[in-house]
Amino acid sequence: MAASGETCPQCEGTGWRHVERNGVSAVERCDCVLAGRTELLLERANIPPLYRNASFDNFSTLPDNPVAHRVLSNAVTLARTFAREFPQPGRKRGLLFIGDPGTGKTHLAVAVLRVLLSRGFEGVFFDYQDLLERIRQSYDRDSGTTSREALETALECEVLVLDDLGAHRVTDWVEDTITAIITHRCNHQKALIATTNLRDPAVGDPPIPMGAAGELASRYYLAERIGARARSRLFEMCHIISTRGAEDYRLRLARRTAP
Ligand SMILES: Nc1ncnc2c1ncn2[C@@H]1O[C@H](COP(=O)(O)OP(=O)(O)OP(=O)(O)O)[C@@H](O)[C@H]1O
Ligand SMILES: [Mg+2]
Ligand SMILES: [Zn+2]
Repeated sequence: MAASGETCPQCEGTGWRHVERNGVSAVERCDCVLAGRTELLLERANIPPLYRNASFDNFSTLPDNPVAHRVLSNAVTLARTFAREFPQPGRKRGLLFIGDPGTGKTHLAVAVLRVLLSRGFEGVFFDYQDLLERIRQSYDRDSGTTSREALETALECEVLVLDDLGAHRVTDWVEDTITAIITHRCNHQKALIATTNLRDPAVGDPPIPMGAAGELASRYYLAERIGARARSRLFEMCHIISTRGAEDYRLRLARRTAP
């Protein structure tokens, strides 16, 4: 619908228009509905204030650090392509950012989310621990509806960002809950964008060396923290983007601003 009341010539008032992508015909929400919708979607997306402006434009691939530059350039290319072309028929509907602390995983996850919101998809950001806590509260007798909504949203929203996956002491309940969420989303082909700094052999992380555990960014494997079933489905539904080897941007900033 055009705001002026005139019929939009692009979509003839339906709010949807036909597009050709890689030779495949598809429908997309029309620009005329997107402008107002994006603002609404952004408000509902629950993006933490620190990351509200995180985008591809303000993400540096750190050209002065050859190793970080290679890793981050690759990460940005994959993330940008996913955001631009989502959802590609027959392709995976998820992204798993995996890498050390401060290497930009959450920043890039939000950058992808914001592109998807601007394209009219509905998405919600959850911190993993916070989501589990909200779901747990919903089992307490006196809880209000908001906490039950958390599980509902995590299961059903079009795009779910799950930040810092596995950053929680593992219990049977945690494992069952995260497995249920990931399985449901996998089965229903709903998008999942997750970040984690846990280790995984699938991205080339070697076994934890004896005695060196204290110096490692993470002493746990992903499978240990979310269970083997959730991990298996995660790999089934996600493209993997590793930021392993990039430098900690927080430390970099701290060094630069030191007196
Ligand atoms: N390459 C980069 N260019 C610009 N800003 C960056 C870059 N990498 C990280 N940042 C910024 O540095 C901070 C830390 O990055 P971020 O939170 O994305 O790291 P992370 O990999 O998610 O870390 P953690 O594992 O601790 O959650 C954020 O404020 C982010 O915006
Ligand atoms: Mg993070
Ligand atoms: Zn239109």
